[in-house]
Amino acid sequence: MPNYSFTVNGTVVNVEAPAGMALIWVLRDKLGITGPKYGCGVNICKACTCLVDGKAVTTCSTQVSSVQGKKITTIEGLANGSTLHPAQQAWLDLDVAQCGFCQPGQIMAAVDLLSRTRNPTDADIDAIENMCRCGTYGRIRAAIKAAAAKMP
Ligand code: FES
Ligand code: FES
Repeated sequence: MPNYSFTVNGTVVNVEAPAGMALIWVLRDKLGITGPKYGCGVNICKACTCLVDGKAVTTCSTQVSSVQGKKITTIEGLANGSTLHPAQQAWLDLDVAQCGFCQPGQIMAAVDLLSRTRNPTDADIDAIENMCRCGTYGRIRAAIKAAAAKMP
């Protein structure tokens, strides 16, 4: 079985996996990183969203062979020591989550957006396609704006 090396949350990892294995299963089943959630498996719900080289990707639809040498960030790697990322803090402050299942992916999509713009518009936020069955979209919008105001 091929071996792949990449960085996850600042640590270089080596994994043996079939080339076509979805990154979400490498993260969850081989590395024990369970922040990315499995919903649809077909690039629709976005619950599995993580960052690859800083860009939001759906890990259910990303083959492990495509991330060789790249930097992966999951929700577990967002905080800086005991200091949460402004998006994580805003999510807590505004009590965004309901069941919580979609929220790691929502936060990772928000972090990607905040890396591209420090003043996201409603249209920018609406362009995030992550689904929430609990309908927390209003609080997500407010949290992204709160986080934007606190980005360094
Ligand atoms: S699990 Fe739904 S997009 Fe990945
Ligand atoms: S908080 Fe339940 S699916 Fe989004």
